[in-house]
Amino acid sequence: MENKIRQIKQSFEEDLRAALPTGRLADIRIKYLSRRQGMIPSLLQEFRGLPSEQKPAIGRSLNHLKQHIEEEIRKGENHARTADRFRPQEDFDITLPGVPPALGSIHPISQIQEILEGIFLEMGYSIEEGPEVETDFYNFEALHMPKDHPARDMQDTFYLPGGLLLRTHTSPVQIRTMKKQRPPLKIIAPGKAFRRDSDISHSPMFHQLEGLVVDEGITFGDLKGTLEHLCRAVFDEGTRVRLRPSYFPFVEPGAEYDISCLVCDGKGCRSCGSTGWLEMGGAGMVHPEVFRTVGLDPEKFSGFAFGLGIDRIAMLRYGIDDIRLFFENDIRFLRQIQDCGGY
Ligand code: PHE
Repeated sequence: MENKIRQIKQSFEEDLRAALPTGRLADIRIKYLSRRQGMIPSLLQEFRGLPSEQKPAIGRSLNHLKQHIEEEIRKGENHARTADRFRPQEDFDITLPGVPPALGSIHPISQIQEILEGIFLEMGYSIEEGPEVETDFYNFEALHMPKDHPARDMQDTFYLPGGLLLRTHTSPVQIRTMKKQRPPLKIIAPGKAFRRDSDISHSPMFHQLEGLVVDEGITFGDLKGTLEHLCRAVFDEGTRVRLRPSYFPFVEPGAEYDISCLVCDGKGCRSCGSTGWLEMGGAGMVHPEVFRTVGLDPEKFSGFAFGLGIDRIAMLRYGIDDIRLFFENDIRFLRQIQDCGGY
């Protein structure tokens, strides 16, 4: 009897090991537990005929075995039920390649910004940042913009409660940088700017890149050379740069700079309004008054500053004629730009 119990236990373990992965335990349940043909009930039958002195010990092993088998089958069935819930409805080929996750791409404006940053980092500039919500002091006052300057008009500037405003250009970063670092300074400050303006060439939120160099002996020639290098690096080697006298309260002398038209190379076409030139941005020598405001001696230091529109460069580069397209984030538009390969 003891032997039989051991053998049944062993054969049960083997059957169980074979059945578990398939989840089909009904057959083993019948083989071991069914009342009519199961091995355990027939063992119990046999047990009844044993001499009574053998009964306690054998009874214990028999009971153990029965409990063990019931318990294992129950566990196996539970497990199979849970696994079933996660089993795909149909058989499938697990060696098939999966569905690739959809990947986004870098926004065209960010791509241009990264290219511009690369050009300046190569020249030893560092990158500065400033807040988009500014005070009147940094956005206007320190930049020598008088109270009646047209740019301070409610028409042009988003004013916020508490005397704050959304910066109308990246030039306040010039002031913040000069206040916290002593020359020599060579920085760019790319970022968002805001103006109450919206048409095909203006968006209420747009991107500028500010440049500022301050040291002893910086000249207008340095400014011109820097702008020429910049424009040739962004567009192509043959690009010509032209400076026109202009007025910005925080630079003296001030200028606007243009590049030879990328479409007609200066001959005059629709893109450049027949002038042969495309406007790029403003620039000039840091005004002595600005130096005094930040506590630098204008007799000792000189410097230049320039600004450019990142969105405008992106428009030229990708041949886009409506700036607002960049910010509507229509996936079809972004995809087209991505497909044209970027730079
Ligand atoms: N901040 C000026 C603008 O937004 C551009 C500029 C920058 C001009 C630096 C001169 C020097 O129009």
